[in-house]
Amino acid sequence: MNAASWAEAATIPSAYKTIREQGLEKNLEELEAYGLTVLTPEQIGEPRVVERARKAVLRIAEERTGARHDIETGEHGKLEADGSTGCQYLLFSFLEEDPVFEEMIQHPMTLPLVEYYLGAQCVLSSLTCFIKWADDIGYGPNLGLHDDSSLYRAGPLPAIPHVFNTNWILTDYTLDNGAFCIVPGSHKLCRHPKPGEGVEHAVPVEAPAGSVLVFHGNVWHGAFPRKNPGLRLSVNAYYCGPHYRVQESFWGRISDEMLAGNGDRFRELVHYDDRWGFQDARGPVPYHQRG
Ligand SMILES: [Fe+2]
Repeated sequence: MNAASWAEAATIPSAYKTIREQGLEKNLEELEAYGLTVLTPEQIGEPRVVERARKAVLRIAEERTGARHDIETGEHGKLEADGSTGCQYLLFSFLEEDPVFEEMIQHPMTLPLVEYYLGAQCVLSSLTCFIKWADDIGYGPNLGLHDDSSLYRAGPLPAIPHVFNTNWILTDYTLDNGAFCIVPGSHKLCRHPKPGEGVEHAVPVEAPAGSVLVFHGNVWHGAFPRKNPGLRLSVNAYYCGPHYRVQESFWGRISDEMLAGNGDRFRELVHYDDRWGFQDARGPVPYHQRG
């Protein structure tokens, strides 16, 4: 099938053309089969993205906790935030804290894979950062296995996902570094795992810093405990279809400078083209056009 045929192939997601152009066909094949694919640092192509993201995350973590953080020694602070446990805490609401995050959420190697499943108008649901340190227990014996389709509280989950996730690896993932894990193919079951289910089939996803995991909203995933000293840092850019509730509100946080420095797709990703949630007599006006 050649490029001249794309215009006639109305049933194929427009992102597929980009996937072909970017050489992401194998990644798409893995997403179909396993529910997850790993983009290598070479595919991401800009090592500076991860280096800058790591630096930004450490700066934000130190500003918010008041404590020094050291990737090698594991020195860290703590925050009373959702998801905080004895071996990790999460950073929330930091998109506007550094321009590198603007690049990550609309990266040309990750976004086409997300758009293939969620559509060309999908939006950013949230941006979060996990900071983990050494601990024997981690998420416990069930490895914290879950899917990201929690809007469907009791299931069943739709075969066509409503959410997709990307996990930017800022420090190496190995088993003893507390690697991310998945149950390959579990996205096809279209349901949440029962407590303890799937652990025997969970495999670690080992990948060097600079890699990005892209995974289906239905796939069962969790993490092994980090046994090595030091810190494990990762950033999740989580997306959803435009007709679903987002986790995070970006309204009122995106400066004119940020909007001017990015294109239409960025404005859409951060909900600034959203007409709903209107509050004035003009009715459904896109957020960025409201006075
Ligand atoms: Fe998750």
